[in-house]
Amino acid sequence: MQRRDFLKTSALAGSAFLFRAPLLAATAEAHIEVLVNEPIATIAPEIYGHFTEHLGGVIYDGVWVGENSHIPNVGGIRKELVEKLKAIKSPVIRWPGGCFADSYDWKDGIGPRDKRPRRTNFWVDDKQAQKLPNNSVQKFEPNSFGTDEFVQFCKLSHAEPYIAANLRSLPALSFDQWVEYCNSPAHSTTYADVRAAAGYADPYNVRYWGIGNESWGCGGNFTPEEYSNEYRRFTAWVPGYGVDLRYIASGSNQNDVDWTTQFFEDILHRRPIHPPFGWSVHNYTNALEALNFNEQDAYSLFYQGTSTEQIIQNMWSAMGVYDRDHYTRLVVDEYGPWYGSGTEVDPTHIFGQQITMRDAIVTAFTLDIFNRHAEKVCMANCAQLINCIDSLFLAHEDKFIVTPNFNVFEMYAAHQGAQAVRAEFSAPSIGFTDIQKPDRWGPPRDGARSVHRNLNGLMGSASVNGKRLTLTVVNPHLTDGRETQIAVRGGNVSSVNATVLASSDIHAHNTFEQPDAVTTKSAQATGSGSTVSFTFPPMSVSKLEVTLS
Ligand code: AHR
Repeated sequence: MQRRDFLKTSALAGSAFLFRAPLLAATAEAHIEVLVNEPIATIAPEIYGHFTEHLGGVIYDGVWVGENSHIPNVGGIRKELVEKLKAIKSPVIRWPGGCFADSYDWKDGIGPRDKRPRRTNFWVDDKQAQKLPNNSVQKFEPNSFGTDEFVQFCKLSHAEPYIAANLRSLPALSFDQWVEYCNSPAHSTTYADVRAAAGYADPYNVRYWGIGNESWGCGGNFTPEEYSNEYRRFTAWVPGYGVDLRYIASGSNQNDVDWTTQFFEDILHRRPIHPPFGWSVHNYTNALEALNFNEQDAYSLFYQGTSTEQIIQNMWSAMGVYDRDHYTRLVVDEYGPWYGSGTEVDPTHIFGQQITMRDAIVTAFTLDIFNRHAEKVCMANCAQLINCIDSLFLAHEDKFIVTPNFNVFEMYAAHQGAQAVRAEFSAPSIGFTDIQKPDRWGPPRDGARSVHRNLNGLMGSASVNGKRLTLTVVNPHLTDGRETQIAVRGGNVSSVNATVLASSDIHAHNTFEQPDAVTTKSAQATGSGSTVSFTFPPMSVSKLEVTLS
């Protein structure tokens, strides 16, 4: 048996899933150094945030099932979903969009539900939406889920609300009034009375407000200078009601340094009263097929996903030219792999897709990137929570499952609020041929190219919280496990617990029929002195929790 085959067999050894790494440190092919005394910054829990848009099956069928539904619910909100969100310590949820936000009038979504107007949904002209009948809520919005329902959803899930305002099609006064509706004290304003009539006398104290969404595109097709003017106008003199309002400005699409530079240059010269708390970044990785892909497609997607790190660095540098003290930090409020249609669990789920081990790997190393840049990234929102793009959950009517992304968030919750520390990864890189193929947007722009690339053999991040060191590691290799020696510099290992998300098939995913096809398992790592030994199985996401003495 060849070494490669041996590793594969041993790493996948049946359901017992016990990885006993030998203590032959000198022979380990991969090394990780964790520098416990080299802190980066505290990992903002909000990095583990979520995103829900009035799009396809996210709100209706996903979050909202209605009070009279036979599906277990709390005031109309899917009960199983909030239970799972509590389990992963969901810190913040973004709503109502996305592109939908800049077409949404919040006043349509308050007051008695049976009196709320029906409106045309932003996504009505999407190809998938066009196939749906005209009575579908995906095309014509019933407004059953509005501000009160969203805030209740957040409260039930123990998350903070993050509301994206409509900058494109509503005036600034309407934004002031939305803040007034949410935050003005009980009995103080007419809007506070409307809120109280719905059963919520106490103010919601919403802190996070997005000032538009993708203002360079669906949010208004602004130039950076125009957007900067709008940002200043919308955020000047909004009543605070004692709440520390945190504005998130609409930042760059992927690596658009020009948009960032021009906005910050303008902001520097014409200082807003409220500089942005956050600068949003959107970075989707794109391909066509969610399930029907080969080894090279998987590596190409992984490679594409690693671009998030460069984007963070580029934005940070561009912002730092003008914002020297780095008052504004990054909010990556949309990210994840995005494929063409065909694997959604119901035709009403526009942009719904299956989530495989491949997606869990991209999601995991994206979270590792955020951890490694904890001083730069103050929030991130995986797009989207349920039934859309890179979801943690899939649901239709009374059927509900978690995807492998949920397992990633569950494992990585240990990083929330911990101190990120430097970790260096050395592992043989993965060489592959990156063939440009059509993605969900169409054929490759530069024509079909084929380029040799190298992908890092192991990727991950580390954090320390008191005596607990958490190390999360992705092995993107599709066939080879990585026998690894981990040196904990500046700490002694008292005990180690390992949890692994892995499968023998990169296409593995959960279905309503097989809800636990992919799930986490405990594994065994060996620790002694300041060294831990572990074999990271092929195509896996692992968490090592080390107790330091
Ligand atoms: O998440 C789907 C869409 O992608 C969002 O509405 C928009 O902001 C982005 O382009």
